[in-house]
Amino acid sequence: MTEHIMKRLFITTLLLLPLHINANDTTEKPDLSHEPIQPLQPTKNLNHDKIALGKKLFHEPRLSRDSKMSCATCHNLKFNGASHCARSTGRDNIELPVNTPTVFNSTFNHRQFWDGRASNLQEQVNFVVNGHREFATSWAQIVKKLKQDTSYINDFRKIYTNGISAGNIRDAIVTFERSLVTLNSRFDRYLLGDIKAITKKEKAGYKLFKSYGCVACHQGRNVGGNLFMKLGVFANYIAERGNPTTADQGRFNVTGDKRDHNVFRVPSLRLAAYTAPYFHDGSVNTLQEAIKIMAKHQLGRNISDHDISLIAAFIKTLPGEYAGQPLGALPDKVMNPEEAEQSKQ
Ligand code: HEC
Ligand code: HEC
Repeated sequence: MTEHIMKRLFITTLLLLPLHINANDTTEKPDLSHEPIQPLQPTKNLNHDKIALGKKLFHEPRLSRDSKMSCATCHNLKFNGASHCARSTGRDNIELPVNTPTVFNSTFNHRQFWDGRASNLQEQVNFVVNGHREFATSWAQIVKKLKQDTSYINDFRKIYTNGISAGNIRDAIVTFERSLVTLNSRFDRYLLGDIKAITKKEKAGYKLFKSYGCVACHQGRNVGGNLFMKLGVFANYIAERGNPTTADQGRFNVTGDKRDHNVFRVPSLRLAAYTAPYFHDGSVNTLQEAIKIMAKHQLGRNISDHDISLIAAFIKTLPGEYAGQPLGALPDKVMNPEEAEQSKQ
């Protein structure tokens, strides 16, 4: 019981400390400059040639050992920057241990990966290159392959005085990733003063998102991506799901600290409307179910279906567009009848 109260206090403190919550929602022109969520801005001063080269490299299968897999194999940029399955398949048809997150807006995450083991996007690329389930190769091999292609020799020369190198390949890919920002979402337009950009229902969902305390963890411009938190503050999700894996240990695998058991980087909810299935294990198929689990396991609350649908409506205002095109769910995602019904709302 005392522990329960302590946890509630912890969440309440988290909620109140860094944020200024605007409780006055009824004024004509609300002041939205102190909200716990801020609008996304395009990354400034990116070199356009680097972006174009990074995009080419992102789709380049020759980066992998057998020249069969590129970054885009798992991160589908046309739709959500992620995969649509619970866990993507890596080399030799081995299932990866965790769900593929989106690359969109990843530049705003304080660390990369569910367990935060990469401290930035550059390091993240190294993990893919060396990972035995991913590219399973070395930078030396990649540089050798690209140097056999005159189009790459020219592309690199145009930008980098020292031509093709591991550092320059990484730099181009990361520059491209930094351009993957989803702008102009309806919620951001609302934050910037267009109070009609979201509906009454979506506004009510945002209010609930704050009052339930979701915002204690999912906050900032990426609506997440800037904190490590335990999955299962009030109830043990992994035990309920069963069959615990090494990946379920989360940040503990990186630090070896017992307090980091089942701790994960809080994911961004910017594209959550489109990145089912959910959680590090891809175990949850619908946004509604994910919200229900969050309320119970992270906040110790039983949430009504009505409140779930309002919060889901709010989350659906968060994705923006990329290169002027709205993003969306993958077309080959098979929806169950309940999802199809809810997606019409
Ligand atoms: C075989 C599938 C696969 C391939 C190929 C792949 N990724 Fe990923 N990507 C994943 C998975 C799975 C994760 C999550 C891994 C984890 O958290 O441990 C991930 C995570 C990421 C993240 C971190 C996002 C976040 O929110 O933490 C970025 C950025 C990323 N990938 C970019 C890339 C780039 C760039 C390449 C090519 C160099 C690439 N990926 C190739 C599956 C893949
Ligand atoms: C104590 C911190 C905390 C609170 C409070 C919290 N979350 Fe989360 N949320 C997390 C963490 C950590 C994860 C990742 C868990 C995992 O994947 O294993 C997550 C994952 C999610 C996901 C899945 C995202 C994805 O891409 O897989 C959704 C959706 C979500 N939260 C919504 C909410 C909502 C809605 C609330 C409020 C009812 C909420 N969260 C409250 C920490 C929190």
